[in-house]
Amino acid sequence: MSEREARSGEGSLSAEGKEVFTANCGSCHTLQAAGTTGTVGPDLDELEPDLATVEHQVVNGGGPMPAFGKEGILNAKEIKAVATYVSSVAGQG
Ligand code: HEC
Repeated sequence: MSEREARSGEGSLSAEGKEVFTANCGSCHTLQAAGTTGTVGPDLDELEPDLATVEHQVVNGGGPMPAFGKEGILNAKEIKAVATYVSSVAGQG
């Protein structure tokens, strides 16, 4: 576990999920907890998607959103991490 994760008290999955989000999703999506303000896709704080919704969308993409899973951009662990992160923090920023 890195020092940052230990200090924040977050599990490693949550910390990884935030990193995956800011690197791959924030340019298109607003999520206050991650400090992102993208406007191409829906505001995730308003949408408050559940885990299955995020996971499905990240695997399959939709519209201009890349199919991160099917295109091999993110691996299964990264997808689980980002889906867990988004579904737990959306709407709470
Ligand atoms: C190039 C811009 C772009 C990127 C990058 C992007 N998205 Fe999206 N996203 C969109 C657009 C546009 C939509 C709405 C179109 C649609 O629903 O098919 C969307 C829809 C969604 C939805 C809503 C799905 C639903 O069923 O309502 C979720 C959740 C989501 N994105 C999460 C993510 C996550 C997590 C990432 C990073 C792994 C990401 N997006 C990266 C543009 C993007």
